[in-house]
Amino acid sequence: MHVDVPLWYRDAIFYELPVKSFYDSNGDGIGDINGVRLKLDYLHALGADCLWLLPFYNSPMKDDGYDISDYYSIQPEYGTLDDFRLLLAEAHSRGMKIIADLVMNHCSDQHSWFREAVSSRESPRRQWFVWSDDASRYSGARIIFTDTEISNWAWEPRTKQYYWHRFYSHQPDLNYDNPEVREEMKNVMRFWLRMGLDGFRCDAVPYLFEREGTTCENLPETHAYFKEVRRMMEKEFPGTILLAEANQWPSDAKAYFGDQDEFHMAFNFPLMPRIFVALAKEDAYPIVNIVKEIIPIPEKCDWAIFLRNHDELTLEMVTSEERDIMYSEYARHPKMRLNIGIRRRLAPLLDNDRASLELVHALLLSLPGSPVLYYGDEIGMGDNIYLGDRNGVRTPMQWSYDRNAGFSSADTEQLFSPPITSPNYHYGNVNVDSENRLPTSMLNWVRKMLSVRKRYAQVMGRGSIKFLEHRNRHVLSYIRSYGEDRMLCIFNLSRKPTYLELSLPEFSGLRPVEAISGAQFPRIGDLPYFFTLHPRSFFWLGLTEPTGSDEEG
Ligand code: BGC
Repeated sequence: MHVDVPLWYRDAIFYELPVKSFYDSNGDGIGDINGVRLKLDYLHALGADCLWLLPFYNSPMKDDGYDISDYYSIQPEYGTLDDFRLLLAEAHSRGMKIIADLVMNHCSDQHSWFREAVSSRESPRRQWFVWSDDASRYSGARIIFTDTEISNWAWEPRTKQYYWHRFYSHQPDLNYDNPEVREEMKNVMRFWLRMGLDGFRCDAVPYLFEREGTTCENLPETHAYFKEVRRMMEKEFPGTILLAEANQWPSDAKAYFGDQDEFHMAFNFPLMPRIFVALAKEDAYPIVNIVKEIIPIPEKCDWAIFLRNHDELTLEMVTSEERDIMYSEYARHPKMRLNIGIRRRLAPLLDNDRASLELVHALLLSLPGSPVLYYGDEIGMGDNIYLGDRNGVRTPMQWSYDRNAGFSSADTEQLFSPPITSPNYHYGNVNVDSENRLPTSMLNWVRKMLSVRKRYAQVMGRGSIKFLEHRNRHVLSYIRSYGEDRMLCIFNLSRKPTYLELSLPEFSGLRPVEAISGAQFPRIGDLPYFFTLHPRSFFWLGLTEPTGSDEEG
């Protein structure tokens, strides 16, 4: 039986946060679950509808929690299961939802499953992992962490075989050919969903199965397993969602929606880097091109659109020309690069240029899909490229100009990471408290934009998109439509002022009303409509039937 669940995720604004980095409620220098709970009012007022929490399970933390050593408990520094229950209850009481990261492809080599598996070749856990005498198997699979790994196989000296790992060698892949593993992962999901969790951001979904002669990515068996998981969730926990992290080319990424019977959502990896390419080239084409490739998708599915997240800005799935543009424009210092990508936050990527930051947010909030904000980007937080791995974009949230950016009362030396103190992004200036007091701050601007996005949630979240034809390649323009609602969106991607003539015969007689201020523009007539645009500026214009009272003059 098909259960028709509410499509809440199609209209939602998501907010991603690492528990460790958000707020430290007990003064030990590490953010915790209670800290997140204490900041729910902030998140609610900002406009976040659903929080995505990075992995908070027990872990040796060699990959920031993406190396899980017990799926049924919480990392002690982060708190307890009771703290988590309380967080869920308080979020729900505000009408907010919470999804959690779930690392399904692999676990930590410290997990008892792996420890048992390496105790002897006869161990009943042995077949929970993928073993080989020969490290040349599955040679079609690429290496993902190219800066640190030279093979997807690692030697296990005790039992003298290689084990398979797609990420760090301390993260052995689970063997999804084993029905016990498939069932156990569903049990893990049941455990958290029963507690009231609203869904999962499933980590690294393309890699669950291995087959000789393939890339070992996006295999039919992987899709079949997620369909099985989806059936379980619809039956036992209706209304909960699955969000796929599948960093893939457009057609492979789209395949994770299945026939509305697999993932509800998938991250829009194809779009994300092309927004930055479009800005670098001052050309709308990269965005138009990719959006045309990734739509339409089934009605009950949605893209999760994002600008930045906790990882490097990945450039694996772009052309070599696009990669070159990205590196030369956005990663001039070698420390800014990691694996095949760029480890920087949004504000530094865009040289802290306010107009560019506003422009990309306006894209994020008006392109088809549900926006996912990364903690700290709403205040324009900076990064620290001198911290290892991806730690430079996971520094303490900047709440105030007080000690430790108001993140923690611990001694500064005790913090899990130094806060940002570089002059342009110093927490003394870039912080929630100061920005709350300044009407023109980035934070107040983002908050305002999210409230406008909510007013137009359906047309922006669910509406169709039609790109408008014109001659100016610097300008991206499209119409979003849903029912009777129409929103005309125009973006000047160039660093210079420009103008635009748009022929809008099908909207003749309608009046553009600027969505943020309510300012009214002259009615659309039969002649081309003329716009002048500041560098990196945009318009969101609702197209409305003029009423007697709003006639010009
Ligand atoms: C996560 C990374 C993590 C990797 C291995 C990803 O795709 O987003 O942060 O290192 O999976 O679990």
